[in-house]
This record gives sequence, C-alpha cells and structure tokens, in this order.
Amino acid sequence: MSLHFKVMMSAPLNKFQFATCSAPTNIATIKYWGKEDVHLNTPLNSSVSVTLDPRDLNAKTTVCSSSSFHSTRFWLNGKEDKNINKRVQKVIEEMKKIAKDPTKWQNAHFHIVSENSFPTAAGLASSAAGYACLVACFAELFDVKEQFDGHLSTIARQGSGSACRSLYGGFVRWQKSNETFSNQSYAVQVADEFHWKELCAIICVVNDQEKETSSTNGMQTSKDTSTLLRFRVEKIVNERLQAIEKAYLAKDFATFGRLTMKDSNQFHAICLDTYPPIFYLNEVSKKIIHLVHQYNHISGNVQAAYTFDAGPNAVIFTQEQHVEEIIALLKRFFPRTNGLSIHTSLQLNKHTKISSVLEKNVKLPTTKNGIKMLYVTRVGGGTRLLGRKECLIDLDTGLPNKTYLLRHKSTSSRSPDNLTLAVSIVGALIVGSILFISSRRNN
Ligand code: PMV
Repeated sequence: MSLHFKVMMSAPLNKFQFATCSAPTNIATIKYWGKEDVHLNTPLNSSVSVTLDPRDLNAKTTVCSSSSFHSTRFWLNGKEDKNINKRVQKVIEEMKKIAKDPTKWQNAHFHIVSENSFPTAAGLASSAAGYACLVACFAELFDVKEQFDGHLSTIARQGSGSACRSLYGGFVRWQKSNETFSNQSYAVQVADEFHWKELCAIICVVNDQEKETSSTNGMQTSKDTSTLLRFRVEKIVNERLQAIEKAYLAKDFATFGRLTMKDSNQFHAICLDTYPPIFYLNEVSKKIIHLVHQYNHISGNVQAAYTFDAGPNAVIFTQEQHVEEIIALLKRFFPRTNGLSIHTSLQLNKHTKISSVLEKNVKLPTTKNGIKMLYVTRVGGGTRLLGRKECLIDLDTGLPNKTYLLRHKSTSSRSPDNLTLAVSIVGALIVGSILFISSRRNN
C-alpha cells in the first residue's frame, strides 16, 4: 500500500524537472553607463551596487523541463511572451554549455514562469533581478559548478549588465574586463549582507510605467556622443570606486552618501550631455533631490543620499535611525489623497511626525500625489533556491499554476484591448439608452 502510494506520488515528479529561485534587485551607487562590447555586454567602466532585501522586492522564477515540451515558452507576470527575447535565449544557450551534462540538455525545451513583486521596467532594476533569477534556476537544474568565482555572473551579465550584481548580497562590484581577463567581466562581493545591517533604502515610486528610452539605447547614444562619458570613464570612476568601497567597509555614511549622490548626478549629467539628450528625471525627482539636500543641511550631516537609475524613481539611502523621519518628510511634502502607501518588511512607526526644526526650515512646495508609493527595505542577500511549495508551474500540466495566474489576473486583464472593449460597451449602452428614451419622448 505504502509502495503504491509512493509510486503514484513520484510519477508527476519524474515527468518534470524543475527549479524555483528568487533574486533581489540592486541599486548602483557608482553607475554603469556605456558598453565596451555590445555583443558580450561588457561595460566601459566598473560599477558597484547595494543588493536590496528580496523580502521586499524580488523576482521569482520557475524553470521546468520535460520531454513532452515541444518548444521553449516564457511567461512574465501572468502573460505569455510569444517572442522570447534574444537575451533570454542567449542566457539559456550559455547555461547549456556549462551544464554538468551538456549533452542531456542539448535539445531540451523549457517552460519558464516568472514574476516581479514590483513594477517591471520602470527603473527599479527588474531586469537585473529577472536575469539573475533565470541564471540561478538553470544553474540548479543543470547542476552547474562554477569554473571560477563569478562564472555565473558572466552569463547573467549577458542578459542584462546589472543582473550580474544581483547574484550576490550586500555590496557588489561589477568588474570591467582588463588585460588579465580580456573579454571577461564579472561580479565580486565587496561586503556581505550582514556587514552594514543598519543601511536602509527608501524607494519612492514616482512613475511605475515603462521607461521611454531603454538603457541599452540610451547607453549607445551616450557612448557615441557624450564627451563627459569619456571623461568619467577615464578620470573619475576608478577613484570613486575605491573611495566608496572603503566608506562602505567602514560604514562611513557621510562619505558613502556624498559619493552616491555625486555619481547619480554625474550619470544624469551624461544623459543631458548625450545628443539628442535623454531625460530620466522629472520635476518630482528634482524636488526629492532638493528635499534630501535641505534635510542633510539642517541636520548638519549627510544622513540621506538619493540615487536615480534610468527613470524618475528615487532610491534614498539612509541608516535605520533616520528612516521614519525621512518617511514623515516625504509624506509631508508629497501627500496622497488616500495616504502614501508603504510596502515594507521593517517594523516602522508610520505615525512619526517631523521635528519642529525640520517643519520650520525645509522650504519646498507641496506636490500632491507626486509619489505613488514607497518601498522601504534594507540591504539583502543574493539569489536563493526556493522549495517545492513556491513552484509557479502546475506539475500536472507543465503550465503556469492557478495561484500564479490568479495573482496576475487583475493586471493582465487590464490590457488596453480589454479596457477599450469595456469602454466601448459602456459607451454603446449609454448611447442606446439615450436614443431609446428620446424616441419614447418623441412618441
Ligand atoms: O543593466 P542595464 O543594462 O539595465 O543598465 C543599468 C544601468 C543603470 O541602472 C542606470 C546603472 C547601473 O549600474 O545599474
């Protein structure tokens, strides 16, 4: 009886081989902007980033393989993507090469189901988390052993440059290729996630729509046209990297914060120096910049530091003891009609008021509904293998499971087509009723 039960239970398990992983996002404090080699996706300069706690923002992916699959299919946030991105295909091919048994996977097909716990492609490093997660899943499925430290990061990099930094927790450098490692550029952990536990990040979602200029296109135009980019690569970045790594290891927030803000400003100056110029920041972003500088000035110290990627959303770094005060400031100057919602795993007192000194001295016009929501998080760990319960695929069908589809139903059914259809039906009903009423009146 028990043997029969065992066979019944293991049959579906043998049908599919799968792995589910989660990956964090990361925010660069010394930015990568510009590719040395577009094909290999190697950077013009090294960069460094803070990995954010995956409990607050993460990508989750299940990769499943079965001899019954006829093609590789990919679902993101509940919707199937019929044209699988070339970079996803590239990552799969590269991972196949380093599988423990490459011949076993040579002609294999996969079902890949993925989701982000935050807005996709809105400058919140969703592609970084997504590609890191994809690599982690295939590494597990293929039983990969790295041939050198950072080997997997060289493959994640080919999906999205910044993804190589999301494989590790804490503070991570993405090393540009050099004479010793020509064409080889990988990520290294500078400090793990336990080193500076008090470091927090407040993410201000200013816009959760997809960005207008993709980072790949933006970087190429900057490389072709910006003289400031060349100056930065040759004269600025290396010194900054050494200084910020030293500050991070010493938990020297003032130096870390100053360098973070200066580097974000220089990146956006390069965007402006690009021809035609690229604008990622908007009026709300600029007000957040002013608020942070006034807050630091009034506090007499650098206690908060902003940084912006390829979008208007701000990430404000600070230490734990200042988080509530900064949230209170954001609520005061960017109020929302129904209150500013905060997504966080931190235990926060959400009713903290700003001090009378700040109330009196911060001079900023109030921007109603300027910020959509906040994520408040800490430094976090890298990619993780998840248990069977977290699998996003139905192991009877090999397709996305019900819970996953339900979770994304509201967002995917709000597609423009459905919306247009709904508006047309309501419109037709209203017009019909008016015609009906007026015809009765005329009668
Ligand atoms: O990883 P990509 O290709 O999306 O480029 C990321 C570029 C920035 O986010 C602006 C900077 C960085 O280093 O993450």
